[in-house]
Amino acid sequence: MAAALVVRGGGAAARALTFGVLRQLHTVYQTVELPETHQMLCQTCRDFAEKELVPIAAQLDKEHRFPAEQVKKMGALGLLAMDVPEEYKGAGLDYLAYSIAVEEISRGCASTGVIMSVNNSLYLGPILKFGSEEQKHQWITPFTCGDKIGCFALSEPGNGSDAGAASTVARLDGNEWVLNGTKAWITNAWDASAVVVFATTDKSQKHKGISAFLVPMPTPGLSLGKKEDKLGIRASSTANLIFEDCRIPKANLLGQQGMGFRIAMQTLDSGRIGIASQALGIAQGALDCAVDYAEKRMAFDSPISKLQAIQFKLADMALALESARLLTWRAAMLKDNGKPYTKEAAMAKLAASEAATAISHQAIQILGGMGYVTEMPAERHYRDARITEIYEGTSEIQRLVIAGQLLKSYGS
Ligand code: CAA
Repeated sequence: MAAALVVRGGGAAARALTFGVLRQLHTVYQTVELPETHQMLCQTCRDFAEKELVPIAAQLDKEHRFPAEQVKKMGALGLLAMDVPEEYKGAGLDYLAYSIAVEEISRGCASTGVIMSVNNSLYLGPILKFGSEEQKHQWITPFTCGDKIGCFALSEPGNGSDAGAASTVARLDGNEWVLNGTKAWITNAWDASAVVVFATTDKSQKHKGISAFLVPMPTPGLSLGKKEDKLGIRASSTANLIFEDCRIPKANLLGQQGMGFRIAMQTLDSGRIGIASQALGIAQGALDCAVDYAEKRMAFDSPISKLQAIQFKLADMALALESARLLTWRAAMLKDNGKPYTKEAAMAKLAASEAATAISHQAIQILGGMGYVTEMPAERHYRDARITEIYEGTSEIQRLVIAGQLLKSYGS
């Protein structure tokens, strides 16, 4: 699977991505030979993560603190709008580049990885694909440079996996939509300046009655729930969005009325590549930590990396990681080449998230007691990994999507 992909664009933001110095080859280059631009992007993101994120990731996690300064710097590098064309002030790159960047950022700080992924895939993605020209200029351009970030509101307290059962209502009143209902588990909620919201305009039509809307934040009639106190990814905010007679202009409908479910599903196909990449970053961070420790820790007169019991674990960890990376890059390349990728994105997300959970579990096992305390990043990797099997579709939903697509390909 040689990456024969050509990087589009290459404007100011994209050029900014290439200033990094190629210092050392990463294991990803041993997996597949990437185009030079992607290698330089990888190294730039790695340098950024090592300098800006690794030193503060534990503190951000402890304090549940949004990395505002780092997000701003990522905006300047083009990392917040990676596949957005230059005319809207994006980096004009592709999804393979995006996957590589999310992985490297998440390797340094998984919270920052999901902040970046939600802005790129879940917020900017649907506007880029379904927005009018006017909407693109209004709702994309200000969200490319790190000054503002967006979020995506699909789940509700009463429905998560059953996304078609939305009970948040949007009613047209003259020249305005009036929104009522509560959206749940919204990543970036406390730090966002706009949200793509899904609400039903005709409940009797079930999923065909769902529409998508663009809502500025803050705005009258929209309030934030409490910041959730989470197991992991604690530097990213997660909260409910509560709509009470929230009025927005009629022009803020995204796509056509009743098209919302399709917009949500297509957005999640891309989002799952982002979360797969975040999971790869967490898994790589956990593997790095385990190898480093195993080479230094002495037992039975030698470093424990010489013991077969440890080597078998490391081999299984590397195998799971590199397999998941190949699946993730395949999904990204299919998207970049305009091919269907629903099944492949679900496979990537499933494989990478389960690999991240398993690898971070084994990393703690290799570190022993040191894996269980906050002096080492292993326990954070373990906590951060767990959500990747839940958000943007649980592992069970990914299996449903894969089986559905598989059976369709057999004509069933
Ligand atoms: N692309 C385009 N259209 C799609 C599609 C896709 N990937 N998947 C389904 N559709 C279309 C179908 O073709 C069908 O169209 P018609 O009505 O025209 O025939 C329609 O959508 C309904 O399809 P299904 O019957 O398959 O729908 P369903 O109700 O059975 O649900 C599901 C399918 C896969 C379970 C879906 O509900 C789903 O993905 N659920 C999980 C939701 C999810 O991932 N939520 C995460 C929230 S975001 C998040 O995590 C927040 C965050 O901040 C990180």
